[in-house]
Amino acid sequence: MKIGIVGAGAVGSTAAFALINQGIGSEIVLVDHNAALSEAQHLDLLHATPYCHPLRVRCGGFGDLQDCALVILAAGVSQAPGETRLQLLARNAAVFRSIVPPIVQAAPGAILLVATNPLDIMTHVAMRLSGLPPGRVIGTGTLLDSARFRALLAERLGVAALSVHAQVLGEHGDSEVLVWSGAQVAGLPLQRFAALQGVRLDDTAMAEIDADVRGAAYRIIEGKGATCYGIAAALAMLARCVLFDEKRVLTVSSHWHDIDGVPDVTLSMPVQVGADGGAFHVPPALSETEQLALAASARVIRDALAALGY
Ligand code: 2OP
Repeated sequence: MKIGIVGAGAVGSTAAFALINQGIGSEIVLVDHNAALSEAQHLDLLHATPYCHPLRVRCGGFGDLQDCALVILAAGVSQAPGETRLQLLARNAAVFRSIVPPIVQAAPGAILLVATNPLDIMTHVAMRLSGLPPGRVIGTGTLLDSARFRALLAERLGVAALSVHAQVLGEHGDSEVLVWSGAQVAGLPLQRFAALQGVRLDDTAMAEIDADVRGAAYRIIEGKGATCYGIAAALAMLARCVLFDEKRVLTVSSHWHDIDGVPDVTLSMPVQVGADGGAFHVPPALSETEQLALAASARVIRDALAALGY
């Protein structure tokens, strides 16, 4: 149960900390082009292990990824305040051209988990550069946005987020789609639960939640320069699903042949995640408005891919 993490910045190192805290995997190998950074992160994480779980932690080069069951790709530049995820495209595509081939050469059997933005496009690029079957390359996608949606609904409704089932689909980015029609709390339709709690979830409240989910990363980056805890928790949960073959259905980014007439596109949809990655797709039931919004989101990603030559 060896896990590689390529990119030892805020996201990669916090993901490693989440894995150590939760005891997921047996060994973590950090790889970064900045050897001083990966060495420093390795030491800092190593000092957490006596009080958490006894995972082995080390840093190294691509060759040290040999026998990894999964490799997390968290390398690349992240957004500056006010910058969109799509604005990172050319820079991070160049980073992936330099890291994906040596990762696959060292660990051809690994599942690749992509966390670099623009997420869906980088997941598509990683899939193509790796030559791996599509199901073996998945991105964190809208796992984070779905978590934000659930957390905000939970706050309003005064219920645990674990009891809220709500999905965000499409691009992990500005065009994402909040699926209000299928949202449930404790097995009840959202509005029925809200009425029981005496909470008004009218158009204004829903628009506020939509804006808060869509704008969450911008607000966090404005305040502290980067997001890391939510994505690290999502990565640790994804790693557990793969390593323990949990087969949870999650909104991760994966390749689809067609989304409402948009061909060859990678975006977040419900996918069953287990030891074989995310090969089993679960097409969602959507309202007409949501279906149209999903097609528009798929178009945003396809156009960006085309501009990059994919
Ligand atoms: C996030 O949504 C920046 O994509 C990152 O937190």
